[in-house]
Amino acid sequence: MIELTGVSRTFRTRRGDVEALRAIDLTVAAGEFLAVIGRSGCGKSTLLRLVAGLLRPSEGRVAIAGTPVARPRRDVALMFQRPALLPWRSVLTNVLLPLEIRGGVRAEDRDRARALLDSVGLAGFHRRLPHELSGGMQQRVAMCRALIQRPSVLLMDEPFSALDALTREELAGQLQQLHLEMRPTTVFVTHSIQEAVLLADRVAVLSSRPGRVQRIITVDIPRPRSFGHNAHLADVASHVAELTDLLHANDAQPLDAPRIA
Ligand SMILES: Nc1ncnc2c1ncn2[C@@H]1O[C@H](COP(=O)(O)OP(=O)(O)OP(=O)(O)O)[C@@H](O)[C@H]1O
Ligand SMILES: [Mg+2]
Repeated sequence: MIELTGVSRTFRTRRGDVEALRAIDLTVAAGEFLAVIGRSGCGKSTLLRLVAGLLRPSEGRVAIAGTPVARPRRDVALMFQRPALLPWRSVLTNVLLPLEIRGGVRAEDRDRARALLDSVGLAGFHRRLPHELSGGMQQRVAMCRALIQRPSVLLMDEPFSALDALTREELAGQLQQLHLEMRPTTVFVTHSIQEAVLLADRVAVLSSRPGRVQRIITVDIPRPRSFGHNAHLADVASHVAELTDLLHANDAQPLDAPRIA
């Protein structure tokens, strides 16, 4: 569904060139959930912006469903760390915004928006304004807004990282449920290894800048998955450990040989 072939991206700045990504080959199958982890500045957001059509690669090719990505597409939804809701619109009309922009909201769209909001625990908040909600609730609204158009591709850039630990676990659980129901092809950038293991079919580990695909690991734990005690605790722990080692190996610097007097 999503195909990156030999994708590199260099930014030209006044202080010289910054090579953000180098020779990325990556395929995400239809309906798959791919998590991307890597150190700060390794090019994760750049990768998402390339898939979203917000940036062009310096080299290589990005395609969705066989078509090169030249601009943002209707069937691709984005979600970022901040909810970016319109403050003067109600929760419900914020969720409906993408449909309004694209030419009209039908009665069944309203029903669907309500059902989505209810499914993330926001029944009874449809008419509230964003400032009346907590950060976690606002981010749930943003998640509903991303999903209202039934996107075939969902791109998420650290969507839960501004939230407290318990709230992010709740939202991750709700995202898992919605993904199981709707199956958008998903690329999910996170700094949380746990979150990656909870949600993803595969986890791509990027190396430090310039970002390259260092390793892709498959998470073959049955769903629904959960944090805390469960039948797959040992599998979760071993995937988390493997990814932790990979990330740490990432910043291994050559050390000076110890000097012995
Ligand atoms: N528009 C830009 N102009 C110049 N340099 C940029 C631009 N966008 C990104 N970069 C540089 O490219 C590199 C990768 O940035 P990117 O934001 O993709 O990293 P990231 O992995 O998302 O980091 P973080 O985990 O901190 O969000 C960084 O060194 C960044 O400074
Ligand atoms: Mg980023």
